[in-house]
Amino acid sequence: MFSSLPNPVRWVRAVIALAGLATLSGCAKLNFWQMDGHQSTIVVEGSVAREQLQVFYVTCWVSLVIFVIVAAVLAYATFKFRARSAADEHAEPPPQGHGNPFIELGLIGASVLALVVIAVPTLKAIWSTYDVPEAEKANMYEVNGTGYQWWFKFEYPGELAPTNATGAKAPLVTGNELVIPAGRPVRINLRTVDVIHSFWVPKLAGKVDMIPNRANHIYLRADKPGYFWGQCAEYCGDSHAVMRFRIIALDAKEFAEWLEQQSQTGRTVAPRAADANRAKPQFAALRSFKQNEAGITAKFDVNPLESWRAKQAPEKNEDAALIAAGRELFKTKTCIACHTVRGHEGGGVSAPDLTHIGSRTTIAAGLLENNSEQLRRWIHNPNSVKPGNKMALAYARTDREGKPVDGIKLTPEDEGALVAYLESLK
Ligand code: CUA
Repeated sequence: MFSSLPNPVRWVRAVIALAGLATLSGCAKLNFWQMDGHQSTIVVEGSVAREQLQVFYVTCWVSLVIFVIVAAVLAYATFKFRARSAADEHAEPPPQGHGNPFIELGLIGASVLALVVIAVPTLKAIWSTYDVPEAEKANMYEVNGTGYQWWFKFEYPGELAPTNATGAKAPLVTGNELVIPAGRPVRINLRTVDVIHSFWVPKLAGKVDMIPNRANHIYLRADKPGYFWGQCAEYCGDSHAVMRFRIIALDAKEFAEWLEQQSQTGRTVAPRAADANRAKPQFAALRSFKQNEAGITAKFDVNPLESWRAKQAPEKNEDAALIAAGRELFKTKTCIACHTVRGHEGGGVSAPDLTHIGSRTTIAAGLLENNSEQLRRWIHNPNSVKPGNKMALAYARTDREGKPVDGIKLTPEDEGALVAYLESLK
C-alpha cells in the first residue's frame, strides 16, 4: 500500500530551488542534490533499507500535510483578525472556540488518525526487517560480527580454515571488511568484547547496537554486487568517529572464489634468482601527515569495487628477501602477541587477523587506504591516526609506577620490511 509513495526529498529539493537557492547549487557537489553519498539513507541499495526508507517517507508526508494545514490556518487567522486601525488594537478579542466539542473531538480524531497512518507501516516494518523471513531461511547466509575498541571482527561460522595453534580448523576470521553474497539475505550476529558499539551500513539497513552480554543480530541484503561504507554509530571512546568498516557484496561465483582464497593459510613469496644480486632495498621517505589527514585517494574512490578487485592479486615486483625480513620482524617485534597470520606466526586474537590483510582495501578499521604509504604511516605512529588505540600502547609503555619502559622501536628499514610483508599477504 505504501510501496509507491513519491519521494518527498525531491519535492523539498524543488522548493529549495524555487526559493532562489538554486544559485548555490553551482557550489555544492552533485552528490548533495542527489542526496547520495557513501552513507546515504535516501539513495539505498538493499531491500531492508528500502523498506525502512518507506516508513521515513510516510512520516515525512504526514508531517508535511499537518504543516500545510497548520500554516494555512495560522495565515488565515493572522490575516482575518489583524488590527485594521488604531482602535482595533484595543478591541475585545473575537468569540473564542475553546470547549467547542466539534473542534475538540475533531482535533483528537485527526491526531489519532495521523498516528495510525504512521503506526501501521512502522509496526509492519519492525516485524519484517527484524530477521530473515522464514521462507528465505534456506537461502540465508550467516556471519558473526564483533565490536572491539575500535575495529570490527567478522567470522564465517560456515567456513573452516586451518589455525596456528593445533592445525585444526576453526571458522574463518577477517577484520573490518565483511564480504557477503549479493542478492541473498544475510544475518549478522552482533556481539561486543568491551563497550557498546553499533553496527550501521546506511545503504543496506538501519543500525543495531552491539551490547555486552546481549545477543543481537541484524538482517540485510544487497541488491547487487557493490562496495558499502559502514560506521560504528554508538559513542565508544576516543576513536569512535574513526571506527569504520566496509561491506563488499559479490555475485555467487566471485564470493565462492573469495572464500576459497581466504581459507588458505598466509601466502609465502618464493625467493627469485634476481633477488640475490639486488642492491639494498629502497624505501620511500615517510612524508609527514597533518592531524586527521585523510588516507583515501580520489583514484580509489572512483570505483571502489574495482579497487577492491585489484587488491586480490599479488603486487608486481615483490621483493622476497624483504618480505622474509618483514616476517621475521613480525615475530621479533612482538606483533604476534595480538595478531595472527595463519600458517605463519602468531596466535593473538585481541587484534585483527592479518592472514590476508594484503587483499583488503583499507587498514585501521576503514580509515586509511591499504597502500604502502598509509601502511607505513600506521605502523610508524598508530596513535597519530587513531588516538587511544591498543597498538600504540605497545610502542610507548609505562610500568606500574608510570615510568616509561621500552616499547616497540622500528627503524625506517624495519617499517619498509614490515610493509612489504603485510602487502604480500594476499
Ligand atoms: Cu564503536 Cu563507536
